[in-house]
Order: sequence, then C-alpha cells, then structure tokens
Amino acid sequence: MRESSHLGATVTPLAGAGQRLAVGGPPLAGDDPDAGRARDAKPGAGLERTLLYVARTPDPLLCAYLKSRGWEIASARTVHEASRLVKPEAAYAGIVDLTGFAPREFAGLETILRLQQVGWIALTDDSRLTDAEVRRLIRHYCFDYVHVPVSHATLDYLVGHAFGMVSLCDLDTPGAAAASQDEDEMVGTCEAMQQLFRTIRKVANTDATVFISGESGTGKELTALAIHERSARRKATFVPINCGAIPHHLLQSELFGYERGAFTGANQRKIGRVESANGGTLFLDEIGDLPLESQASLLRFLQEGKIERLGGHEQIPVDVRIISATHVDLEAAMRDGRFRADLFHRLCVLRVDEPPLRARGKDIEILAHHVLHKFKQDSARRIRGFTPDAIEALYNYNWPGNVRELINRVRRAIVMAESKLISAEDLDLAHFTAQQTVTLAQAREAAERRAIEAALLRHRHRLTEAAADLGISRVTLYRLMGAHGLRDEKTFFGGEAENQAELPPDAQD
Ligand SMILES: Nc1ncnc2c1ncn2[C@@H]1O[C@H](COP(=O)(O)OP(=O)(O)OP(=O)(O)O)[C@@H](O)[C@H]1O
Ligand SMILES: [Mg+2]
Repeated sequence: MRESSHLGATVTPLAGAGQRLAVGGPPLAGDDPDAGRARDAKPGAGLERTLLYVARTPDPLLCAYLKSRGWEIASARTVHEASRLVKPEAAYAGIVDLTGFAPREFAGLETILRLQQVGWIALTDDSRLTDAEVRRLIRHYCFDYVHVPVSHATLDYLVGHAFGMVSLCDLDTPGAAAASQDEDEMVGTCEAMQQLFRTIRKVANTDATVFISGESGTGKELTALAIHERSARRKATFVPINCGAIPHHLLQSELFGYERGAFTGANQRKIGRVESANGGTLFLDEIGDLPLESQASLLRFLQEGKIERLGGHEQIPVDVRIISATHVDLEAAMRDGRFRADLFHRLCVLRVDEPPLRARGKDIEILAHHVLHKFKQDSARRIRGFTPDAIEALYNYNWPGNVRELINRVRRAIVMAESKLISAEDLDLAHFTAQQTVTLAQAREAAERRAIEAALLRHRHRLTEAAADLGISRVTLYRLMGAHGLRDEKTFFGGEAENQAELPPDAQD
C-alpha cells in the first residue's frame, strides 16, 4: 500500500494485479507474470511531465519558471481550449487560476476539473473563498489550493505532487487500464485463487466434462467462460443455459429443439441449445434444478453424443464440451433421489471448486479496488479509494453473496459517496468496523473460523491434513467445524471430503 500524507488520501494500487486471469482471447495477461511486472516496474517512468495551466491571464514568469523546472506547459485561457489539450491516455498536473473566472463560468470549469487524469492545484484569493461554489469545486476536484500571490517554487512543489498522485492513481494502477479492456478478467492473488487459475489452465487442455461447485456469486460462470476461452474450442460458441430459470415443461425443447409440427404451435423447426453449441462449449448452470426427465435425456446425449429433436426421428451427432455448475449440494440431492448419480459421474469427470470470498484474504481488498476503478466514472466526484474503516469492514464482513455482492456494494457506494474516499457507511457496512465494539472472544472466534476455513479449502476438506496444518487433532477440528457451522459446507470444498466428514469423529482418529 502506498500512501500520500499530503492530503491524507490513501491510494491503494491493485497489489498483485499481475496475477489475474483474463478470460478474453489471447494474449492472456494471467499467462505471463512478467508482463504485469514489467508494466508495474516504475511508476510514472518515461512519462512526460505535462502541466495544464488554465488562466484567463496566464503569468509568463510562472510559465518560464515551470519550464525551467522541466515541465511541458499546455496553456489555455478557456475551458474549451483546455479540454482540447487533454489527451485521454496521458497524466497531467493542472493549475487552475480561479481568480480570473466569473461565477457563471464555474459550471464550465467543473467539466475540466472532473477529468480523472489531471491533478489540479487551484489558485485563489480570500474573496473567492467566500463563494460556496468555489469551495465545493476545490473540495471535490483539487489536490490542494493556494492563495495568490504564491512563490513559484511552492507551486512547482505542489504540481509535482499532484502529478505524482495522478500517475499513481490512474496510470500505475494496472486495474485502471486492464479493467476497461478485460471485461471478463478474473482477479485473484491468494493461494486458493492461484490454485483455481492453475486448475482452469489444466482443464482447458482437455475435452472432459467439468463440474464447478461454489456458493452463489463466487464466479462459476466466469470460470466456465475462462475454461472455454482457453480451450481448443475458443473460436466456437460458448452457450450458457440456466436450468433453474426455464420452466420444466419447456426445458426439453429448449435443450434439444423440435421439428415443425412436433406439437401445437410448433410452426417451424427450432434448434436447441445443445445443438447450437456444436463445436463449442455448453454451460449448464444450476444443473441441480434439472428435472429428472431432462436428466435422462442429457445422460443419453452424454453417452451417445447424439441428440434427437422433439418430434424428429433423426439422430443428430453434436460435438460439445459440457461444463456444469451448481450452488446446491448435489450429493444431498443424489441421496434424496432428486439427481441421478450416473449423470453426476458423467458430468463430474473434472471438478473445480470456487473459494468463497471470505476465504480469499487480501483479494477482498484487491477486488474492491478493481471494481472501483472499473466503475468510478459512475460518480461525478473523483473517488480515490476507501477509508481505513471501509477496508476494515470489507475484511470483517462475511460476504454471503460473494463477489457479486461486493461488486454491488462498491458500485452503490461509488454513487452514494459524498467525499473522495468511500466509507464503511457508503458500503452499508458501518456495523463491521472497530467502532462497533468487538470483544476479544468474538475476535478470537472470527479468526479461528477464518483459519479453519482456509485450511479446509487448502486441503479440499481432507480433515487429517487440515488438522495437521492447524496443529490440532482431527477430533478437535471436527468439533470446531460443528461449532462454527462449517460441517454442512463440504459441497463448497471438493469431492474428496465427504466420506471423511460423514464419519463420527472418534472413528476417524
Ligand atoms: N475473481 C473474480 N474477479 C473479478 N470478477 C469476478 C470474479 N469472480 C466473479 N466475478 C464477477 O462476479 C459476478 C458474479 O460472477 P458469476 O456470475 O460468475 O458467479 P456465479 O458463481 O455464477 O453466481 P451464481 O451462483 O449466482 O450464478 C460477475 O459479475 C463476475 O464477473
Ligand atoms: Mg451463475
């Protein structure tokens, strides 16, 4: 974390942003860790120090001095001129001399003050500062302000600082550039996410069916897309279908299509989703909601590689790779007879487990910054980051809705924030800060739960190994899992575990 003490603003670039997995087509950033490092190596290195000087009456002596200090000066007398000088991809320091502008011109000035890539220093005098509008403009958009007259050396120092801040915030932050390009990138630096990225790369090389398990909002669909985009099928289509969102009586025809006249209203042939994915990948989301009738048809297709449209007699060969996902406990569904075990084994040749957000440690903060950079233009203010209490709340909160919930909270906060830093209150997480008294016992309990979850995740719920990591016996681990309500979550951690977890603790040690 880098901080600027000048304005008390905290700027947190996306640490470890080189470790992300871009889902979109090659070249893929996540494949080459050095590529990220090279880009991150020297903040601002090689950048020209350009200064935008907006003043009704520019001061030639000031310009000469700043030039002698190595600044490239772009001078503008009007808002229109200034906006023509700014190139979107460059960073600038800015001096705006408010003394020469009339109040009716402030609205126009605001449009250039809002430019994210200019670090503004305002020049003003006492009489201007009595104007509420001037105070607002300075508060919202400027790094600092000075009373005129001011020494040229002071201004040089201030614009240097503003330029450095803008270069850090907007250019050195890989998330800023990458987020706009890689709509579908996966961000993750913790061990669990690195493991996930390795798994994605491995399973992408095969054509076997993949089953993705994870809580709601953890990134199952994004993972399925990442696998497709990295597989030999990436040039063909990726067809997602949410089995839970389609009425049961329509699922058969949606999946397999129908022939003209197959039923009343079937006026023309319809190609089903399975067939439309031919050559590509079919992503069956919420597979646990597939009714038994469709489960039987899907199993037949997986065995034979052929489909039959409703009302048709032809067996049509279709070549698709199947990825499926669910957030429900399929093992329980199989035990209850709601899901066919033979279909599950066909679908789950390879298994991928999405870690819940609360078990991703530092990634929570990295993701929050990633979302902020992606959506900060939704706010008229120049939002620069999060307050310390917001960061604390991000870590203390349990994130039941995972990454999707984090995206929604940060996006909402961007709109609601009334200052340049997003607070815990803006995130609607004020109850999760230290101001909220936490007893030592509560803090210990939370830390214990986090450590247990992380160990279980690392060892895919294999209790012996997780217990060894934690330095406790298996019996103790089993008891603690019960106390923390973690015994039912085996569906999120992987397949190897279930037999062990079912055993009574004394039988296991
Ligand atoms: N590692 C990540 N980095 C960046 N964005 C992510 C990551 N994981 C998930 N997201 C984003 O979070 C949102 C939810 O992801 P996704 O739809 O893949 O989750 P899901 O597990 O399929 O959720 P659900 O169970 O509710 O269908 C999406 O906007 C996705 O782009
Ligand atoms: Mg989904």
